[in-house]
Amino acid sequence: MQTLLPQVSLGLINFNSHLETLAFIVAALLFILALAGLSKQESAQRGNWFGVAGMAIALVSVLWIAISQDDKNAPLTAVLIIIALVIGAVVGLYKAKNVEMTGMPELIAMLHSFVGFAAVLVGYNSFLALPGENSPENAFHMGEVGLAVFIGAVTLTGSIIAYLKLSAKINGAPWMLPAHNIVNVVIILVSIGLMVWLGYSRGVSGGIAPLILITVLALVLGITLVMAIGGGDMPVVVSMLNSYSGWAAAMAGFTLGNDLLIITGALVGSSGAYLSYVMCQAMNRSFISVILGGFGDAPVSGEQKDYGEHTETTPAEVAELLSNASKVLITPGYGMAQANAQHAVASLTQKLRDKGVDVEFGIHPVAGRLPGHMNVLLAEANVPYDIVLEMDELEDVFPIEDCDVVLVIGANDTVNPAAEEEGSPISGMPVIKVWNAKKVIVFKRSMGNAGYAGVQNPLFFKENTDMLLGDAKKSVEDIAAAINDD
Ligand code: TAP
Repeated sequence: MQTLLPQVSLGLINFNSHLETLAFIVAALLFILALAGLSKQESAQRGNWFGVAGMAIALVSVLWIAISQDDKNAPLTAVLIIIALVIGAVVGLYKAKNVEMTGMPELIAMLHSFVGFAAVLVGYNSFLALPGENSPENAFHMGEVGLAVFIGAVTLTGSIIAYLKLSAKINGAPWMLPAHNIVNVVIILVSIGLMVWLGYSRGVSGGIAPLILITVLALVLGITLVMAIGGGDMPVVVSMLNSYSGWAAAMAGFTLGNDLLIITGALVGSSGAYLSYVMCQAMNRSFISVILGGFGDAPVSGEQKDYGEHTETTPAEVAELLSNASKVLITPGYGMAQANAQHAVASLTQKLRDKGVDVEFGIHPVAGRLPGHMNVLLAEANVPYDIVLEMDELEDVFPIEDCDVVLVIGANDTVNPAAEEEGSPISGMPVIKVWNAKKVIVFKRSMGNAGYAGVQNPLFFKENTDMLLGDAKKSVEDIAAAINDD
């Protein structure tokens, strides 16, 4: 009997480790399916549920590992994990329910700072848990700890600065140290040297000095990197920090020896990096110039060109125009979110489609203030997915030249012909060429304000453009009311 017991416990350990591997593989597959699902509007909800299921499996398996450890503190560890889970879930649910769509980027930036902070804590915990070992693996492990703390600390302060800039708690203009790039490169090189020192250190007393120095330098680097990036490039910064937070999580996975965290972190890290690249393309920015900073808040050219007089229209006139149209394109922008006009836009669309008008939406990749902003709002208002086209699809599926009317609802930079002119701060940014339609109606509250980039928009003064001034929601509701039901 006595000889059997160790075998039984060994069997249980093997069973647990197989179960853990299986759970991790299933969770990793679910995360991959989640990312695949989130790439299309039709499958986004399903993708979200895959992610929820993957995370639930990951959490339960981590809890199971904690409980089944041959350690007298295992029950206490499990209770602490459950308490942390409940607190996190309550705060997360509260924030998700209350956040305004326009406040999403800063919430995301704040959440990235938590991931960075967690990676720093995991790194320190791992460092303190392995004192005094002098083996080569220990040296490698200490190098990992140094890298995890470095990436985590950069993510932590970088995300806090992004949060403060996006929520306008500090000035969004680029702020750069003299010789900014040289300072950053020196910080990175010195940190690599400190990681080597940490790897060769002996025990806590020998390694604490390089680890603290790495932390301080990385915290400073996070600040200098993001302070140098202006408001216009903030969307790229948020997805870049998303990527950093993924790498920070992957490094935490290495220090904890947790394969799932490594896989998940790598998925977030690489998808965030790819999203940053796609957004740079959409905003005509080079990724390197964004990272190096100093862009994104290009001064608006002092002399505003005189583009002539604009013409105004009324909801009744637009209703008449739409009733006689056969093809209508709607290009929404940040103003639709600001006015909360998506439901009014959806019912106007339905009304026009019921009358036989072919209505489609053209979505610019950086319309609004976060990736997929317009798609989320239109999905919330139950606009059918198949009439929501990406900017690149328009040419083949719904050429603007064939449109009788384009309704520009609260969009400005994303439809600005100045992007085609030399010397404009948005030169070269791909835009939706709405001015090629027969008639353009621009919804805007006043002629005084420019778009996000602060650039005057010659579209407003074109011969085939009429301005419908006022809050977008009210204007759309008035148009819908003026359209005859028969
Ligand atoms: P913007 O250029 O920001 O223009 C928004 C327009 O909406 C303005 O003309 C504004 O004029 C109008 N507006 C605001 N509130 C309104 C209301 N209640 N009713 C009617 N109109 C209203 O919008 P966009 O074309 O979507 O371009 C997005 C810009 O944000 C780009 O420059 C992009 O680079 C930047 N950005 C994007 C992201 C992402 S990831 N999407 C994140 C951060 C920044 P009035 O004030 O006169 O009404």
